Amino acid sequence: MCGIIGYAGTEKAAPLILDGLKRLEYRGYDSAGIATVSDNELQIKKDQGKIDEINNELTLSDMNGNTGIGHTRWATHGAPSQNNAHPHTDNENKIAVVHNGIIENYSELREFLVGEGYEFQSETDTEVIPHLVDHFMNQGKKFEDAVRNTAARLEGSYALAITFVGEPGKLVIVREQSPLIVGLGADESLVASDIPAILPHTKRVIILDDGEMGVLTAGNVEITRVESGETVEKEIQEVDWSPEMAEKGGHPHFMLKEILEQPDAIQNTLRVPEGELGELSKILEKADHIYLVACGTSHHAALVGKYALAKLADVSAEAIISSEFQESCVPKEGDVVFAISQSGETADTLKAVRVAIENGAKVVSLTNVVGSSITRLSELSCLTRAGPEIGVAATKTFVSQITYLLLLAFHMARKRGQISGEEFNDMANQLRGLPDITREVLDEVNTQTKKIGEEYTDIKRGYFIGRGIGFPTAMEGSLKLKEIAYVHSGAYPAGELKHGPLALVEPGTLVIALVTPGPARERMIGNIEEVRARGGKVLTLAPEGDKEVKEHVEEVISLPQVLEILSPLVYVLPLQLLAYHMGVDRGHDPDKPRHLAKSVTVE
Ligand code: M6R
Repeated sequence: MCGIIGYAGTEKAAPLILDGLKRLEYRGYDSAGIATVSDNELQIKKDQGKIDEINNELTLSDMNGNTGIGHTRWATHGAPSQNNAHPHTDNENKIAVVHNGIIENYSELREFLVGEGYEFQSETDTEVIPHLVDHFMNQGKKFEDAVRNTAARLEGSYALAITFVGEPGKLVIVREQSPLIVGLGADESLVASDIPAILPHTKRVIILDDGEMGVLTAGNVEITRVESGETVEKEIQEVDWSPEMAEKGGHPHFMLKEILEQPDAIQNTLRVPEGELGELSKILEKADHIYLVACGTSHHAALVGKYALAKLADVSAEAIISSEFQESCVPKEGDVVFAISQSGETADTLKAVRVAIENGAKVVSLTNVVGSSITRLSELSCLTRAGPEIGVAATKTFVSQITYLLLLAFHMARKRGQISGEEFNDMANQLRGLPDITREVLDEVNTQTKKIGEEYTDIKRGYFIGRGIGFPTAMEGSLKLKEIAYVHSGAYPAGELKHGPLALVEPGTLVIALVTPGPARERMIGNIEEVRARGGKVLTLAPEGDKEVKEHVEEVISLPQVLEILSPLVYVLPLQLLAYHMGVDRGHDPDKPRHLAKSVTVE
């Protein structure tokens, strides 16, 4: 997805912007560019490709000036190309704009501007913006007023950073339904679409709200409402992420670093304030209907949450994929939509949230990013505390989401008298032991999964089976294998095999079976035998000490005995590592899987 970074200060802007762009690479992009203002001239360098390639070709860091904006583009309107890359300018090269989001009425605006004599250089929706600013400046408006008038004409979502040669030390920024933060330095001001881009400079940030704009100069920031021009007093927030936390920490890839950070992510998420769980429980208990709305990996966490709420607390909730919410659900007053999203910016989930609000339902959320768009639309926003997740693959945010949802289920179960105090303490203590257990598992299975991955170098497809709470974990394993190793894969409740998917099994077909602890174990062994009888090759994840399972399969990954309800936190680890090693062995970059993006901000 697109990323923005801008700088107004006393240092040379281009190298800082270049560094910020690299920190935004994880969002996924296809082109990048920088604009700086120097000696009453706008300098622009941009192209299609990776930032390092563009820098090698155009030496971005050489650009002069103490003010500038940079952008990583993920194509929506117009193919990836130099012309379509941001920044975009007006016809006289005085105004430069970078934009995240989508301008829905751009065709109409483009027609108007063409009628006014403007010539367009790109196919983007963004290019209407510099021309509109120019149009209003030609009518005698000052730079920021022209931006204000422009914003009033735009429909859709936009985060904007804009420079103008006539006011070289200034950036004007606007936010509408696309995140934008301001970083405050001693004699410098920064703007970015997300926090890691500015971490080396400052930890003091202001989070813009929809309908706000800012004027940034060296060390000074003024925020106003776009519509009224009224000044807004914004809270300055301290971000507790260090730049190192957002870097690879000595590992070859962010994905591996983040897989290995999972014990800490669980530990930190266990620190959720008791009051927050109480407040959330109260809202959920009063709900006529609970929808757990999420996409991808977050949806798998939601499925675990649904299972835990039903089995432990006798609370029924529907886990629904966000993009299907508006197609298949009818939220009403009295209903609660519980949005789960690590980024808090996923467009499909945001849309579901907006549909819920429009229909009078309450919205609560669980995200990993303070101040993200979903949190800001929520009546109650809860946080997983996984730290920044840079790899496109969701790993540590998944275990954090599950940890949070389990705590919630324990809390509700106790409150509703579904479990005794003793049972509650036992489950909570076992959950508290998970950081140590997962640390040991990661130590043990890293080498084993690497070896297994090497054995499967030629595998073209693989199927995952599980039962009960093992099924969402199987789905997550399957998603990871597709996303990172590009291996075709599907996940099925093991009991469904005989209703169709078994036809796919032929000699040598890889089936990964999750034998989780609990009453379904016997039936899982039966399903494994169904696969073996057709020549399938079964890799099994099973509790250590389960000798019987070993007799039935070719290869076992033994995992510690934990409560069934906690098993997703343990079973997912070898599946993530397997996908990681298989992806690396096949020469893929696990941090930036093809065609995918970290923060999916289009529907
Ligand atoms: O930020 P979100 O949790 O809302 O993202 C949802 C999905 O896009 C995300 O989980 C995606 O499936 C992951 N890349 C999978 O690893």
